Amino acid sequence: MRDQIFSQKSDLVDFTFDAKVADVFDDMVRRSVPGYQSMIEMIGLCVKTYGQDDTNYYDLGASTGATATALGINNTHKNTHIIAVDNSSSMVEKCTKTLKGKVDNVEVVCADIETLKIENASIVVLNLTLQFISPENRQALIDKVYQGLNKGGVLIVSEKIHFDDQQKHQQMTELHLDFKRANGYSELEIAAKRQSIENVLITDSQSTHFKRFDQAGFTSHTCHFQCLNFASFLAVK
Ligand SMILES: C[S@@+](CC[C@H](N)C(=O)[O-])C[C@H]1O[C@@H](n2cnc3c(N)ncnc32)[C@H](O)[C@@H]1O
Repeated sequence: MRDQIFSQKSDLVDFTFDAKVADVFDDMVRRSVPGYQSMIEMIGLCVKTYGQDDTNYYDLGASTGATATALGINNTHKNTHIIAVDNSSSMVEKCTKTLKGKVDNVEVVCADIETLKIENASIVVLNLTLQFISPENRQALIDKVYQGLNKGGVLIVSEKIHFDDQQKHQQMTELHLDFKRANGYSELEIAAKRQSIENVLITDSQSTHFKRFDQAGFTSHTCHFQCLNFASFLAVK
């Protein structure tokens, strides 16, 4: 279904992942996040190298299940279990429908990822989710993921990022706006969405993400994908 949530003038409230958003999420994310499809494909590509037999793969903030699907259809390891987690019941409903008949050994859970137990994991993905967690709670979440990962396991984090260099930040922001315009969003929709989401989606810079991975104890980390102001990071335990 096409995303027209911000096409009409109305009283603006903070953005939430409610039923209205869940209904149009697949269209919204593809028209708003440059490189989204490649981002998902890169996650699928990591499964062969970083997945391990007899372990869990976690999709944290699963929304409609694109990441869990990529983890499932690219899996080459034995006796793995996918756990797709979201705290929006509307998203959980959509995710369950997406995965049904497509992916085996998957469990869709309605829970808060900040209190979720993570254990025996070889892959944990936070695809466009960490940016919606309060900044002061992000380190604790990354620490918890690190504790739940097995040696050699990987955390994949994709985020909208900001740039410390103001000129670069401005360039990337302008190109992102052009990306949205090119995908059919009007100036009204772009402005209304920005106002609705600005207190909810709080970006970090790449260096902040890397500091967090270091503090948690990850052996290595790198940016393996970037399209304008959206980047994916790979942190290996
Ligand atoms: C931008 S979407 C993620 C997109 C998805 N990972 C993908 O690859 O298409 C962010 C999701 O995180 C979920 N979320 C935000 N905070 C959460 C929390 N504390 N616990 C669980 N889910 C959360 C939202 O409900 C939303 O579905």
